[in-house]
Order: sequence, then structure tokens, then C-alpha cells
Amino acid sequence: MTDQGRTTNANAERRTPNAAPLLAVEHLTTVFDTAEGPVPAVDDVSFEIRAGETLGLVGESGSGKSVTALSIMRLVQPPGRIASGRLWFKGRDLMTLGEREMQSVRGAEISLIFQEPMTALNPVFRVGAQIAETLLVHGRATRGEARDKSIELLRAVRIPNPESRIRDYPHQLSGGMRQRVLIAMALACQPSLVIADEPTTALDVTIQAEILDLLRDMKAALHLSLLLITHDFGIIAETADRVAVMYAGRIVETGPVREIFRNPGHPYTRGLLASMPGGRPGQRLQAIDGSVPMLGALPPGCAFNPRCPDRFEPCPAAPPPDYAVGSEHTAKCYLHDPAQSSVVLRQAVSNPQPAIRNPQSAIVPDAPR
Ligand SMILES: Nc1ncnc2c1ncn2[C@@H]1O[C@H](COP(=O)(O)OP(=O)(O)OP(=O)(O)O)[C@@H](O)[C@H]1O
Ligand code: SF4
Ligand SMILES: [Mg+2]
Repeated sequence: MTDQGRTTNANAERRTPNAAPLLAVEHLTTVFDTAEGPVPAVDDVSFEIRAGETLGLVGESGSGKSVTALSIMRLVQPPGRIASGRLWFKGRDLMTLGEREMQSVRGAEISLIFQEPMTALNPVFRVGAQIAETLLVHGRATRGEARDKSIELLRAVRIPNPESRIRDYPHQLSGGMRQRVLIAMALACQPSLVIADEPTTALDVTIQAEILDLLRDMKAALHLSLLLITHDFGIIAETADRVAVMYAGRIVETGPVREIFRNPGHPYTRGLLASMPGGRPGQRLQAIDGSVPMLGALPPGCAFNPRCPDRFEPCPAAPPPDYAVGSEHTAKCYLHDPAQSSVVLRQAVSNPQPAIRNPQSAIVPDAPR
């Protein structure tokens, strides 16, 4: 919760009605109240999503991805709470809306697809009735129209025999089918933004690929924006336009996907890329040493410093702000501080073999999407 790192939201300043991003998250901090005091699960997070783009949010387990998604939906439950920040969506700050107004945003303008479909689907209602309910609640269909529209939606998400499938209960469907039903529900009201929180984690690889294809196709057909949350850089490579890398509640690097794969600026991103499967045949996977710190007991300075192969003098002193790495590419890392360049150079000469090597051995997306 530092003031540092607030240097790069230049896009917010140049916002005009036409150029405004669809969603601009500004300095979002979400805490969990504990006996020891508030613990930030999301700490001064800023990013934006433009119309029609896919932003990938990636990070290890516990880095704050889901809490970020729930915060955008204003669905954080006690002992969690949004402590500060703004959530600009289509020019309105969602933080200023009452619960009733938020209900008309959720599902209709912003949809959330959860990781585990069984927690999002009600086991005692038929899937057709659940899709119809979404349409009815938001006034997108009359009772007479809802059944036909539900069938249309199931067909759109490529469920065979939708006329009979609408009568199934969730437990009668496979995991992949249930995820398709959730996608149908998320798209039912034609939202502008879909947040997909690990939409394929529970599925096997073939079904995973089908669901990602479906999301990509639906996004293009409906001109959606997508916030795709994952711990898998392979999925980011295949699906996202830009990526934000999260560590210990903070966004430590952000930039276009192709640029981040070719020139990762943060040692944590390099570690994630080096540890991803899919490199050259025979390539050994490298794990990042150490583990994610407890949120209530972050190390001083850069939270990654105990695990960082590149740490140097300034790292434990204060959390690094965002530094420019390239066009639209920033990293919270002192390696990019022009004032530290002589120290960085000295270190590079004395230690030419960085501990995390070869990020380019991971899949590099062919072209910007
Ligand atoms: N209900 C809760 N009570 C207390 N702390 C919580 C609660 N939910 C989340 N947290 C804290 O917030 C942190 C971030 O959780 P979050 O679910 O956002 O992680 P994530 O990045 O989505 O991880 P994963 O990849 O495992 O889904 C957790 O490490 C946990 O400490
Ligand atoms: S600021 Fe220092 S410790 Fe943190 S990632 Fe950069 S080099 Fe590593
Ligand atoms: Mg999560």
C-alpha cells in the first residue's frame, strides 16, 4: 500500500470519451481483516482493459487473482473488504454504486465464469431453467421466449442436442459441458466484459483446448473484452493480447504478451516462463526457488527479494515502483531503474550467469493478436 509505483497510469490521464478503456482499475486495495490487523490480498493494483481485448492475469496460487476478480464484481465477502481504489467501467466508478445498481451490472454488463462449474451451477435446477433465470432476472427475455433463447445459447456454446440438454441437471453433464453451460450463462445478456477465473483448470487437456477455442470465438463474435485469469503462461500465449503478472497481491509486470515472452522484465516473470512446460524437447523445467510469502508477513522492500536470483542493494529497502521496460511494458523491479544502472552493470559483469535462464525457450506467440 505504498505511493510508489503509481507512476504509470498514463492511460488514465489521457482518457477521453472515445479512447477510454472499458475497465480501469485504479489503486485497488482489498484487505482481509484479521486479529493482527488488515492483510492486503490485493495491494494498490492498477490495470485497464480495452474494448475487444483479452488481458491475461497470471501468477502463482495465492497471488490475489481471484480476489481481484471478486473485487471488480464487488463480491468480496467479510472478513474481506475493498479498502480503497476505483473501478471505472464505461465511465462510471463501480465503487460508487449501491448494491441494487451493482446487481444490474453483474451478469448483464460484466460476467464472471468461475473455476469450478459445480459451485456456480445449482445442482437442484435443470440447466435450461438456470440459463432462463439469468435472462429473466435481467429482463432479456419473457417467460415465453426464455426456453428458445436458452436452447440458442446452448447451441452457440456447441452443446449437441440442446433441445434435450436443457432438461438435464448439472450432474448429468460432463465437466466440459458444465463449463460450456456456465459460458452460455455468462454470455446470455451479452455483457461487454467477461472475467474467466481459471476456466479450464479442472478440465483435461483436450477439453481445455476446446473451451479456450470457444471463449476466443465467442469473444470475437460478440466483441467482448476478456479478463482471463490463469496460472498457466501457455494459456496466456494462446489467448491474451496483454498480460499482467501478479505476485503477493501486486502487479509486478505488465505489457503486450509477445513483448513479455520475448523480453520479460521482472525476474519473477522470467521464473514463471522458465518453469512452464512446452519448451524444447528434453528441456528441464526449472522451478522458482522458495515459496510465495505469507501476505501478513511480506519481506521488506521488493516482496520477491528472498527468491530473486538478481537481487541487489536497493531491493530490501523499499518496494520498487513501476519502471518502463518498453512500449506499454512496465516492471516493478530496480533492475530497470536508470539511477541503478551502474550497479546493475557491475552485477552483470561479476555474475554473467543469471540463476533463472532461458525464458525464450518457452513458447513465444507468433504474432500480436
Ligand atoms: N476468505 C478469506 N479469508 C482470508 N484470507 C483470504 C480469503 N480469501 C483469500 N484470502 C487471501 O487472499 C490471498 C489471495 O487469494 P486468491 O484466491 O485471490 O489467490 P489466487 O491468486 O486466485 O490463487 P489460486 O491460483 O490458488 O486460485 C490468499 O493467499 C489468502 O491469503
Ligand atoms: S527489485 Fe530486486 S529483488 Fe525485486 S525482482 Fe527486481 S532485482 Fe529482484
Ligand atoms: Mg484463484
